[in-house]
Parts: sequence; structure tokens; C-alpha cells
Amino acid sequence: MPLVTSTEMFKKAYEGGYAIGAFNVNNMEIIQGIVEAATEEKAPLILQVSAGARKYANTTYLTKMVEAAVETSGLPICLHLDHGDSFALCKDCVDSGFTSVMIDASSHPFAENINITKQVVEYAHDHGVVVEAELGKLAGIEDAVNVSAKDAAFTDPDQVQEFVSKTGVDSLAIAIGTSHGAYKFKGQAQLRFDILEEVGKRLPGFPIVLHGASSVPQELVKIVNNYGGSMPGAQGVPEEMLRKAASMAVCKINIDSDLRLAVTGAIREHFALNPSHFDPRQYLGPAREAVKQVVKHKLVNVLGCNNKA
Ligand code: G3H
Ligand code: 13P
Ligand code: ZN
Repeated sequence: MPLVTSTEMFKKAYEGGYAIGAFNVNNMEIIQGIVEAATEEKAPLILQVSAGARKYANTTYLTKMVEAAVETSGLPICLHLDHGDSFALCKDCVDSGFTSVMIDASSHPFAENINITKQVVEYAHDHGVVVEAELGKLAGIEDAVNVSAKDAAFTDPDQVQEFVSKTGVDSLAIAIGTSHGAYKFKGQAQLRFDILEEVGKRLPGFPIVLHGASSVPQELVKIVNNYGGSMPGAQGVPEEMLRKAASMAVCKINIDSDLRLAVTGAIREHFALNPSHFDPRQYLGPAREAVKQVVKHKLVNVLGCNNKA
């Protein structure tokens, strides 16, 4: 089976009240860990590549490794550009074999977001590629995404129908209180499920995407901290909130930070216990296994997409 788009995955996920995991990939071990988990759990997958990942690993390497994942697993896998910030970047990904792109023009005013998104949709659809866009602004910091809490803005449900009908976009990322990175909430986690519900009513059957959805499990933070790390106050989206979102209109849940924690914790732990090791396979192997275990847990206990491939 070749790479697929997310169209069929989202249709089934919407009807079935579950969500597809969209995991960020930056190297071979992360791809392998995710794909081994999905293979064992028979889960459809979205593997997503950010601009930073393209710069780090080279888009050709990443694309070829994802193609290898399709070939070896036989799973339905969608290769997605995460947070494309321009038409040129989205076009480059469409031209190099991605089956889905995100155009994130959410930092622009509404009308401009529509114009940029529409341009990407026209090109992508002409090439059989689907498009995700974003309305509202998530807080948080990662390589290419940096929005302070004061600049973050919830999605306005009054804008979603006009946005979707004018752009022709295939899925929509909305801001309901999640944020990027490992420091999402200072106190009690709160998500605006009322906004999600209203968006769902305005766009019946339409797939909604949740970014910034790592749960930052405290057992992973503890491993990082036990072995020389320092992440006090790291806090993510509680899993029960993600399950609730998946049972509503959310069909795609983005997870990156939890994989970073798994990799870093496993490597720190490995060196603490085996200070004389210097063969990269000795520590990257455990990192791959840690990614696999986190992803298996997400697929089965959070997203509910196991046995849906
Ligand atoms: O939302 C952004 C993703 O987690 C990717 O992060 O831009 O640091 O690769 P990155
Ligand atoms: P996290 O930082 O919560 O993992 O979110 C990742 C994400 O939204 C990628 O687009
Ligand atoms: Zn994101």
C-alpha cells in the first residue's frame, strides 16, 4: 500500500468517536518506535514532519524512511507537513511526496489566513494532497512555533464556517487551551470544551485537529529528572481530556513533546546506569523502545485507534 491521505482515516475516526495519532518524527529511531507500536496495535498513523525536522534530518531522508515504514508495516500511513508557514514550503512538500500539509497562517489576520490557506488548498488538491489549516492561536514554544500566552487566542466558533467554506480546507486545527511544549498549564488544566462543542455543531462531520496535546506523563518527567534533568512544573493535557476530545469532533491529536521526553529519559537513564557505553546503538535502542511504549499507550488508552487500520 502506498502512502495515503488522512481522508478515509478521519471519516472513520469521526464516525467511530476516536482520533488518529499524529506523531512528530525527526530521526530513524523515532520513526521505528512509532511504527512498531502502530504495527502491534494495528493502528492507522500520521507521521508528521516540521520545518525544523526537515532542516535537521533532510526531507529526503525523512520521506524515504517513512516510505520504508509503509513498506515494512503495510499500515495506512499519511505523511504530513506540520506547521507549514508559507505556500512555498507546502508546495515543496506536495512536490516531494507528502500526502498532507498543514498551512499555519494563524498568525495572520483572518482574511489573510483565508487567502494563504486557499492558495495552498488549490495547489494541494490539484495534486491529490489534503490540507489542514489553523484558526485561533495556540501558546507555546518550539523551534518554529513561538507564541506567548498573551498572544494566544481561542478559536472563535463564529468564524469557522466562513473559513472552511472559503478555503476548501480538509481539516481545521483549533485553539481551546492546549499549547505546545512540556509546560502547558500552571495550575489546574482547563480546556474550552464549550468551544469544541460549538465548532462541532457549526461544522457537522468535519475533522478537527488538536495541537499541543502531549500529556507530559509525570513518570517520564521523573526519569528525565532522576538522571540529571531539571523540569520542575512540566505539565500536559490530562489523558481523560484527550479521550473526551477524541469522542467529539477531534480526529487528529498531535504529539511531539511526550516522544522527546521518552527519548531523553531513556538516554539519560542509560548513561547513568552504563557510563562506559559509547556505541550509539546501546542508547538509541532503548530510546526507540521508550518511544514505542509511549505510542502504544497513546494508541490504546488515549486515542482509541488500535485495531482500526
Ligand atoms: O508543534 C511543533 C512540533 O512539536 C514540532 O516542533 O518545530 O521544534 O520541530 P519543532
Ligand atoms: P506537543 O508539544 O504538546 O507534543 O504538541 C505537538 C504539536 O502540536 C505538533 O504540531
Ligand atoms: Zn502544533
